[in-house]
Amino acid sequence: MAIKRSSEPQEIPAQQPRQLKAKPNPDGTNLMSPQANPQEIEPNEEKIRPQKLAEYIGQKDLKGILNIAIAAAQGRQDPLDHLLLYGPPGLGKTTISLILAAEMGVDCKITSAPALERPRDITGLLVGLKPGDIIFIDEIHRLNRMTEELLYPAMEDFRLDVTIGKGQTAKTRSIPLPPFTLVGATTKAGSLSSPLRDRFGIIQRLRFYELDELTLIVKRTAEIINITITEAGAIEIARRSRGTPRIANRLLRRVRDYVQVHQAETITAELAATAMNLFDVDTHGLDWTDRLVLNTIIEQFNGGPVGLEAIAAATGEDRKTIEEVYEPYLLQNGYLSRTHRGRMVTAKASQHLGYESSASKHQQTELF
Ligand code: ADE
Repeated sequence: MAIKRSSEPQEIPAQQPRQLKAKPNPDGTNLMSPQANPQEIEPNEEKIRPQKLAEYIGQKDLKGILNIAIAAAQGRQDPLDHLLLYGPPGLGKTTISLILAAEMGVDCKITSAPALERPRDITGLLVGLKPGDIIFIDEIHRLNRMTEELLYPAMEDFRLDVTIGKGQTAKTRSIPLPPFTLVGATTKAGSLSSPLRDRFGIIQRLRFYELDELTLIVKRTAEIINITITEAGAIEIARRSRGTPRIANRLLRRVRDYVQVHQAETITAELAATAMNLFDVDTHGLDWTDRLVLNTIIEQFNGGPVGLEAIAAATGEDRKTIEEVYEPYLLQNGYLSRTHRGRMVTAKASQHLGYESSASKHQQTELF
């Protein structure tokens, strides 16, 4: 597909400097990454996290299912069924797990698969549980085989099978465990082994948030962190947040800083837009690197198809970062498509970046 710049660029200047290296963030963090930045760990986040299911905005279907599961488990005085949550990062998997623990009146132990490398990591966690407690394991698709196999009897029969000794004298001992709930979180449900997946009673997907849901989240957080924001200001932040509460709350904090430095009292749509343009986040929530990736495919690879390695080499970005941080949103929102021959930019992306497709122009000329 041959593509050239249209004479009328879009609302936000999308033109990129033709640099090969990605633009670093001044504070070393990525404003638009759905993954948590180091500052976003507890207790900073604790204040703005909803504590009850009723306070949780969005994910309506999931909330309905969890409300029933909670009522049923409480009625039977049983722990909740094991729950697998899958979907893109930043949508609230940890929050859901903490809410479930609060609603059930139990503790929630948070860990992730890379922290459960040795068998004693998981056994230590399991033997320390109280009845009904929740264990939250993030990135559960990355569990190693030994840890995973220890989890099977633990999940199914609340039993820990440990091997004592080595070689021919080795013996297996079963240790009873208190009933507990495992909440597994993954961005890659397809990478879970079927024996593990089959042991979850509830499997639910988290979806990207709608604009009205993100607007409510921005307003709620603004109230908690004590900043006034107009409805239009909240919408302006929400629509640039890539459907992700974590990004919405991060943008809100950065806009708040901007507004305070400019000695304004209220976040208006104009101030929010000016601040986010300054941070290089455009009206569609694309940041500098998103646009670099798309512009590179258009200008250096004729719109694609092109392989990930070639994109990484041409942009100077890490291949994994492109694949895990940038691509999911670009693919889900129709800026990029993935074919067996590689990645291609779409007409939507070309238009947004102020290009026009000479292929489609050519077709139009022929039609008339
Ligand atoms: N903060 C982050 N995610 C939220 C959600 N889903 N509801 C309310 N506040 C939030």
